[in-house]
Amino acid sequence: MPAWLITGSSRGIGFELTKQLATVPNGIHTIFATCRNPATATSLSELAKNYKNIHVVALDVDDDATVQAAAETVTGLLGGKGIDYLVNNAAWSQADGLDTANPDTMTAMYNTHVAGSFRVYRAFLPLVRLSERKAIINVSSELGSLGSMDDPRFVELFPGAVFPTYSCAKAGLNMLTRKIAKGHPDFIVFAFAPGWLKTDMGGPNAMDDVEPAVERHIKLYESATIEKFSGKFINQWGQEVAW
Ligand SMILES: NC(=O)c1ccc[n+]([C@@H]2O[C@H](COP(=O)([O-])OP(=O)(O)OC[C@H]3O[C@@H](n4cnc5c(N)ncnc54)[C@H](OP(=O)(O)O)[C@@H]3O)[C@@H](O)[C@H]2O)c1
Repeated sequence: MPAWLITGSSRGIGFELTKQLATVPNGIHTIFATCRNPATATSLSELAKNYKNIHVVALDVDDDATVQAAAETVTGLLGGKGIDYLVNNAAWSQADGLDTANPDTMTAMYNTHVAGSFRVYRAFLPLVRLSERKAIINVSSELGSLGSMDDPRFVELFPGAVFPTYSCAKAGLNMLTRKIAKGHPDFIVFAFAPGWLKTDMGGPNAMDDVEPAVERHIKLYESATIEKFSGKFINQWGQEVAW
């Protein structure tokens, strides 16, 4: 019975991941589907009514008190068991420009992507340690890749210095990933580029639908090993992305 803790499960990739895991026959997965505001996460609440293996838990990665409270709740629900997959997925983006973005957006972006993922990692670390699998997936983006910035395929999609605040935050998340991998060589920990997907964030012109992409994501997460992925930046096809 693998246990998953997913942040940002109200919409998009986090919701689809929760849905696909919950609906696997025989309910083998236990999913702690966390979201900022369960009262307004109506699709998630509806899903959880039909699948008892989903536990909806309030958690705002920007707010340490909610992260701590969620860790206590999940610890109680797990009754001595651990978290097998911790998926740091919650995020927001801003289509801002280098010379026009508000510097405060940089701070807020860092707070969610880097400090937020760090809060979640720290609060749930005891539960990750208790598991056999010990997998931490930090959902990043190729926009956070320094090494891809001059790759013609990337330049075609994202010309110029677009999305500076989001890109810098994802680069920070990538470094946090490497630090966790160095600190815990017995964990499976990697930064993950999910692909450009049709969610609220990815928009309608994105390359791929979320459903088939998340099917790929789950296969990749379940096949991950320390040797293959730990301390690396991996895309949805299992290939390495340049840092
Ligand atoms: N879609 C893409 O094309 C794409 C590409 C590359 C990387 N990614 C990454 O994939 C992940 C998921 O993106 P998505 O496309 O699913 O985005 P999305 O559809 O915009 O959903 C974002 C989710 O994050 C939650 N969230 C935002 N701030 C939060 C906070 N402070 N605490 C807790 N939850 C918070 C949102 O909750 P609310 O409903 O409460 O707002 C929502 O559930 C993100 O890390 C994103 O950067 C996406």
